[in-house]
Amino acid sequence: MKSQYGELYNHDAAAHLYDQDVRDESNPIRTGYAAALRWVGEQVYRSGGDSTRVLDLGCGTGNTILALPRDCTVTGVDLSQRMIDRATAKLSGGDRAVSFVRGDILAYVTQGEAGRFDAVVSTYTIHHLTENEKQALFASIAELLGSRGLFVAADLMFENAEAERSLRSELAADYPAVVRDFDEEFFWYLDTATDRLTASGFHVDVRRFSKLSWGLAARR
Ligand SMILES: C[S@@+](CC[C@H](N)C(=O)[O-])C[C@H]1O[C@@H](n2cnc3c(N)ncnc32)[C@H](O)[C@@H]1O
Repeated sequence: MKSQYGELYNHDAAAHLYDQDVRDESNPIRTGYAAALRWVGEQVYRSGGDSTRVLDLGCGTGNTILALPRDCTVTGVDLSQRMIDRATAKLSGGDRAVSFVRGDILAYVTQGEAGRFDAVVSTYTIHHLTENEKQALFASIAELLGSRGLFVAADLMFENAEAERSLRSELAADYPAVVRDFDEEFFWYLDTATDRLTASGFHVDVRRFSKLSWGLAARR
């Protein structure tokens, strides 16, 4: 199973501007980005630290990999070769054990081999998957991690449907492009995601980084 809109959200065309773009946290889509990535790294550190084998879904230009404990072994998956090329350049010469796979995250996880990773991380990517695809992704991550392991994500989320309504009216006048993204992408519903992960046997901690950026750490 692969994601329906993967090629639409492949970041090849924007790869050259991506790192500059995420540094501008005045855009509500970007507010909290750096803190969220740091938090993801801290969760991996708390769960196993240095020897952790980590899968990074939608690794982009490698910013999340740089936030992970230095001695993790990381596999980064992304559809965009240009984003991967940037990540490769950024990480080359360092002492991190990193490999990259160009491909769809849903396809990669549904075909994944159980027990191969201790942690699955993902930042600002899963909002490109539809609700059904998120559900399939979470179920496959649960299988991939087996009876132990950590799934930690930071992404664009609404706490619930009521929060979405209220953010739509709050941001409509000043940030119409952000509100258009609400319609064109698939921001998570935190309440639904937490319920699904809890039903798969995870204990879930959440953290808020801005109006739209949340982190979710799911542990067995
Ligand atoms: C907003 S960027 C986030 C990159 C990085 N994780 C970060 O936080 O900076 C989203 C990334 O996901 C990739 N992407 C989107 N949909 C994908 C899919 N279905 N499978 C694999 N990669 C995907 C894009 O190419 C892009 O590099």
